[in-house]
Amino acid sequence: MPLPALQSFERRIGRQLRLLEVRKTLIERKIEHQIRLFEQKRNGIGRKIEQQIKRFELKRGIRLDDEVRFIRSWFERPLSTGAVTPSGKILARTMARYVDPQSAGPVVELGPGTGPVTEALVEAGVDPARLVLVESNPAFCRILRARYPEATLVQGDAYSMRRLLDALLLQPAAAFVSGLPLITKPITLRLRLIRDAFDLMVPGAPFVQFTYSVAAPLPKRLGGFSVEASERIWMNIPPARVWVYRKTDLR
Ligand SMILES: C[S@@+](CC[C@H](N)C(=O)[O-])C[C@H]1O[C@@H](n2cnc3c(N)ncnc32)[C@H](O)[C@@H]1O
Repeated sequence: MPLPALQSFERRIGRQLRLLEVRKTLIERKIEHQIRLFEQKRNGIGRKIEQQIKRFELKRGIRLDDEVRFIRSWFERPLSTGAVTPSGKILARTMARYVDPQSAGPVVELGPGTGPVTEALVEAGVDPARLVLVESNPAFCRILRARYPEATLVQGDAYSMRRLLDALLLQPAAAFVSGLPLITKPITLRLRLIRDAFDLMVPGAPFVQFTYSVAAPLPKRLGGFSVEASERIWMNIPPARVWVYRKTDLR
């Protein structure tokens, strides 16, 4: 191609690139605007729900503190909170039933939230001093610290379990009980989590997980562990099922 034609071609490409840049910036601004609108709306709905709950409490003369905190937290971080309300008593007791209170070693709870499963574990006879609670939400951590002063509270990301717990657990754990919204995470991360937990547990100890999903949080075909499941607990909102995993490959 002769030089003048090449230069004009370059100029044309340059103009088109600049136009594309301008368009990209406009689209980005539009998206940011939509996100801001969505967040404003979401916060507005959150405040309205809180007000309605407060009115309900006043009318009935009861306190729904944990529920309110949960709803607020769900509005702030829907994916990591994973539920609009804390687990109900039946679900919490079903989870606790899989932990032998006489077993030796710490009982680790991942994602205890405001502590309904923690409460069920203590009610079932697990000494609170054996509990290691791993929670990422600082507001929930404040509640847990006040309610379970004897337990060891770890504020952090349960998916970095080895970093958080390796030095902390002085003996293998007797059980892991998880309320993490596992199903929202990629399967590789879920598998890493359960394998890390197995490494920190007594061989054959249970990894107890609940889910609202119809599908199992970890499919059995992935191998290396046995799976058992509770009946679906219809009384919970939303209905849930408890899954229990134990390492079968005990090498
Ligand atoms: C579905 S809620 C369950 C709370 C409680 N176990 C219950 O049954 O009501 C999930 C909990 O896991 C916590 N969570 C989510 N991701 C986490 C993470 N990566 N590390 C630690 N906690 C996490 C949330 O803050 C929340 O408290």
